[in-house]
Amino acid sequence: MADATMDRPVLRVLSGEAISPPPAWMMRQAGRYLPEYRATRAEAGSFLDLCYNPAFATEVTLQPIRRFGFEASILFSDILVVPHALGQDVRFVEGEGPRLDALEGRAQFEALREAGDPAIFSHLAPVFEAVERIRAGLPHETTLLGFCGAPWTVASYMIGGRGTPDLAPARALAASDPALLDALLDRLVTVQTEYLVRQFRAGVDAVQIFESHAGVLPDSADGDALKRFSLGPIARMVSGIRAEVPDAKIIVFARGSGLDGHARVVPETGADAVGVDWGVDLAALRQRVPATTVTQGNLHPETLIEGGAKLDAEVDAILAATAGLPHIFNLGHGITPQTPVAHVERMLARLRAGR
Ligand code: CP3
Repeated sequence: MADATMDRPVLRVLSGEAISPPPAWMMRQAGRYLPEYRATRAEAGSFLDLCYNPAFATEVTLQPIRRFGFEASILFSDILVVPHALGQDVRFVEGEGPRLDALEGRAQFEALREAGDPAIFSHLAPVFEAVERIRAGLPHETTLLGFCGAPWTVASYMIGGRGTPDLAPARALAASDPALLDALLDRLVTVQTEYLVRQFRAGVDAVQIFESHAGVLPDSADGDALKRFSLGPIARMVSGIRAEVPDAKIIVFARGSGLDGHARVVPETGADAVGVDWGVDLAALRQRVPATTVTQGNLHPETLIEGGAKLDAEVDAILAATAGLPHIFNLGHGITPQTPVAHVERMLARLRAGR
């Protein structure tokens, strides 16, 4: 990996180097805003069929690289393949998002596969095959990112059975049976640490851990819910991964954790970089954290839909806030299906003009 680092701008930034203009990728860059994605998706069948078919998953992963030449490629999959591998029923309802059989108590928890059950990783074998195929199909200089969800975010879907704005079911379980929530988080820490180690062994260069629900957490007796439910479990994953892959590069995206939460991510998890959501003032964050901290983000996905002068101005503001500092250009959350492809082109032209 040492050799490839020098050739891959995203890995160089993750090692602390400032590059101008910064390398770029987009969360959800393989997705419904691309006509070629919609075509492959239609051919594959359901969303999960696409995730578990290495040839199709490789194709959609490579599509945004071919079209835009992003410096990083992210494995096409979903954070919910892990609950699926644990034996929970997972489906994606068209136009509605994910649906799981909600984990309401001990009985459903006990029905899950235990960490160490070989069936978990045989279920996920198509993901590792996709990683090998993607790496073989990528330009040498493109960084390949693997990923998974952070334990709290994945647990909140497992408990609620769907995305809910206030995560009421997961917070209720935390109040009624805190030991059960801890056991579920522990299971996810263990299984997903191995999952990311196996992604590295299959060929990813770096990984991102998505804590999309860092903004809504249960109450913690010690008053530090962010540490107890989010940064703590992530830190255990980071050290577990590094025990197996010592030079593993890790990005943590803790959406909704605010300026204070974002500033805590790198010191408290040991990650190499913090993914910044669109709600955080990037200039203020850069002033709060050491100059050596690697940031990633944070263009508002709605600005990308709007385009025009506002888009140019936001690209310029991100470049100004991160000039001379190690930064990876990205959105502050996933690109949405209604985004015009021409606006992505405009964003990259502005960025690559290096203003
Ligand atoms: O970023 C990428 O291009 C890689 C692929 C990727 C997907 N999901 C594909 C996907 C990644 C990294 C994810 C992560 C993910 N999945 C997260 C964390 C990031 C975030 O958005 O906060 C979460 C919370 C999920 C769970 C999930 N999957 C939801 C809530 C939904 C429905 C929302 C939607 O956009 O429809 C999905 C479905 C999903 N995952 C789609 C894609 C491309 C759309 C489904 C389709 O194509 O039919």
